[in-house]
Amino acid sequence: MTTSSSERGVSLGMPELPAPAYPDDVRARLETDAREIIARYPDSRSALLPLLHLVQSEEGHVTRTGMRFCADMLGLTTAEVTAVATFYTMYRRRPSGDYQVGVCTNTLCAVMGGDAIFEELQEHLGVGNGETTDDGKVTLEHIECNAACDFAPVVMVNWEFFDNQTPATAKRLVDDLRAGRPVTPTRGAPMCTFKETARVLAGFPDEREGAVESGGSAGPASLVGLKLAKGESAPARVVHPRGEPTRTGTPHDPSPTEHLSSHDAPQDTSASDPAHPAGPTAEEGE
Ligand code: FES
Repeated sequence: MTTSSSERGVSLGMPELPAPAYPDDVRARLETDAREIIARYPDSRSALLPLLHLVQSEEGHVTRTGMRFCADMLGLTTAEVTAVATFYTMYRRRPSGDYQVGVCTNTLCAVMGGDAIFEELQEHLGVGNGETTDDGKVTLEHIECNAACDFAPVVMVNWEFFDNQTPATAKRLVDDLRAGRPVTPTRGAPMCTFKETARVLAGFPDEREGAVESGGSAGPASLVGLKLAKGESAPARVVHPRGEPTRTGTPHDPSPTEHLSSHDAPQDTSASDPAHPAGPTAEEGE
C-alpha cells in the first residue's frame, strides 16, 4: 500500500500546509514538464531543485501549492520540500518583481561602492531590502559575494552580471528595466524576466535569439592573475576622467574583444565616482 506525501508528512508529526490546487490545465502542463525533468535523473528526488525552479517559473515564487506539487511528483513529504526551498536563496518565498536587482554588499564590493549603490537605489526606487516597486518590476536586495570580486562593485539582475557599477549606472539600469528598454548584461545571456529565467534554470532550452551564443566567459580582469603567473605582464587599465566621451559614446572604452554590457561603467571606481573613491585616502597615503 502506498501513502500520499501528505500522509507521510502527518506521520512525521509535520503540520500539513493548506495549499490551494493549481487549475487543472496548469497542473497538467506542469506535470508534463515535471515528468520530462524527472526522467533525466536515475533517482527522482534528484530532480527537486529543477522542479522548484519549474514551479517558480509558473508563479514567480515558490508557493505552498508549488511545494505540494513537487512533493507529489517526487514522492517526498512537504516538509522535505520545504526544507530545500527555504535553504537556497534562489527560491523566492514571496511575490517579487520581474527583475531581481541584487547589489553585492560583501566586503570587497561594499568598500568599492556597493554600499553606496544599495543606499542610492533604495532612495531612488523607494523600497528597502527585499521589497518590490509599486509597478511590480524591480525587487531590490542585498546579495552575498558572487565570485566576481575582480569586477567589484557588482550588481546582478536575475543572476546576470553587471560589472563595475556606480550609483549612477545602477540607477540608469533600474530605470531602463522599469521602462522596458533593452538591457544587456556584461557577461551572460540577454535579460529576461524572473519567470523566464526560472524556466531556463529548470532545464528547458533558452530559445531567445542570441541566448546560447552569448554565454558568459571570464573577463580580462579575471585573467590578470593567470597572466602574471605565466610571467606575462598584466594589461594596462585604461581610466577615463568622469564622463569623458569615447568612441563608443560611453566613459568605458573597451578593447575590441571585450564583451560589453549596455550599462557598463568606467573601470575605475575612484575616477568614475569621486564621492565614493576606492583605495587609501590622500591622508592615509602620506
Ligand atoms: S564581494 Fe562582491 S562579488 Fe565578491
